[in-house]
Amino acid sequence: MNHHQLYAAYKQLNIKAADLHHSAALLEWDQEVYMPPKSASFRAGQLATLASMAHELLTADAYGAQLQQLLASNQLSPDELANVQLSWYDYQKNCKLPSAFVQELSEQTSRSFHAWISARKANDFNLFAPELHKMVELKKQQADLYGFNHHPYNALLDDYEMGATVHMLDAIFLEVKKELNPILKSIYAAPQVNDAFLFQHFPKSKQWDFSIQVLTDMGYDFDAGRQDYSEHPFTTSFSPTDVRVTTRVSENDLSSLLWSSIHEGGHALYEQGLPQDQYGLPLGAAASLGVHESQSRLWENGIGRSLNFWQHYYPILQQQMAPALDAVSLLDFYKAINKVSPSFIRTEADEISYHFHVMIRYEIEKGLIDGSLSVAHVADVWNQNYQHYLGITPPNNLVGVLQDVHWSHGSFGYFPTYSLGSFYAAQFLNQALQTHPNLQSDIGHGNFTALLSWLRQQVHMHGRKFTSNQLCNNICGKNLDLGPFVKYIKQKYSAIYGLDSL
Ligand code: CO
Repeated sequence: MNHHQLYAAYKQLNIKAADLHHSAALLEWDQEVYMPPKSASFRAGQLATLASMAHELLTADAYGAQLQQLLASNQLSPDELANVQLSWYDYQKNCKLPSAFVQELSEQTSRSFHAWISARKANDFNLFAPELHKMVELKKQQADLYGFNHHPYNALLDDYEMGATVHMLDAIFLEVKKELNPILKSIYAAPQVNDAFLFQHFPKSKQWDFSIQVLTDMGYDFDAGRQDYSEHPFTTSFSPTDVRVTTRVSENDLSSLLWSSIHEGGHALYEQGLPQDQYGLPLGAAASLGVHESQSRLWENGIGRSLNFWQHYYPILQQQMAPALDAVSLLDFYKAINKVSPSFIRTEADEISYHFHVMIRYEIEKGLIDGSLSVAHVADVWNQNYQHYLGITPPNNLVGVLQDVHWSHGSFGYFPTYSLGSFYAAQFLNQALQTHPNLQSDIGHGNFTALLSWLRQQVHMHGRKFTSNQLCNNICGKNLDLGPFVKYIKQKYSAIYGLDSL
């Protein structure tokens, strides 16, 4: 076979694996959105079948040999070479986990997840603890199987954020503490903003229609996607031409639906912007979870909670929700949607204290994986840290250590990407604003064309060609840097809370 034929065979195999993954994703989407409850156990089997078929394809010896042949060829284009190198990296990683271990991990995931559900129902962490302990032991084993430098957590991080390390995260969270703690303290000491009017009655259908309008304006293509309701909002993609979002609604809380839609819309724009001709290949996939979250957070917070954005949308919202917001000024509305106050639940946190929620989880995960913390002490450490950083102690584990699904799934190393995403988002938006001086006024007119095409060029079209760190350097000329985020926070919140000295 010449290198064209070899590459075509490689591409075909990856497309086949992607077809299996995306078929599974469609079943998962259905599970969250429509599936009748009695279908659960057969559905789990169907998903497992598809996953193991894809895993077999991508770990076959023949596939490894094919990749090596391609790597030895010096006739690949730069993009082809990038694909093959990334696939080789993935292949080697996949092969490090024996199939018996993969099976065990998948079964433990089911057990831990069900134990977590029961523990939540009974509000009893002890129902979850033994299964969490087993999961942690398996994750330690996984880190050993992968191999690592310096810290076993680095091996797990790599699954979500290639190249991220404990060394880098420790430095970032140290800065989070140093920079954001004093800001939070000043805000907590200032008179609180009033957000009571956000909790009036807002009809479901009106909230829905408004979110559809905003998504459409953002550039989300409804001919290549759709929005539905689910308990936990998410984005899923079956190809760049079918990327779906979900949202949730509360008729007594205006914040719930809209920012879920904008957040997921940011994720979805990334997926819709991935190159179609790279379907199934690394360059057709997102760079990392951190970069993914940078897209959702940029839209949700950088745009969707900005004064500029609401200059355009507030009169429209007022009219659609009339008379609920008639007596509320734009500025009061803007302050309300940016209210900062300590809270127990990460997903409901404001954009400053959010990072303490993440940091607390990161420190606990690191301790569990390196053995310095045992599952028996997790709930206490959790509660002590909430008291220490946010000044509140969870009244029960339901709003404390049992709130997130991640650990039951074995997703250790996932949480830090939420913070990385926010910090990348601030760096990227800062760069976009410097490159396009008219961007602010465009946003003030509900026109996001220039912003979206900048994001397409800078981030979306590259897929996994660059790691998050390389991408950040390409775009901003430097590594991950908390500076733009801190600057954005200081400017925004000193105005909102009337503080000169942030
Ligand atoms: Co997200």
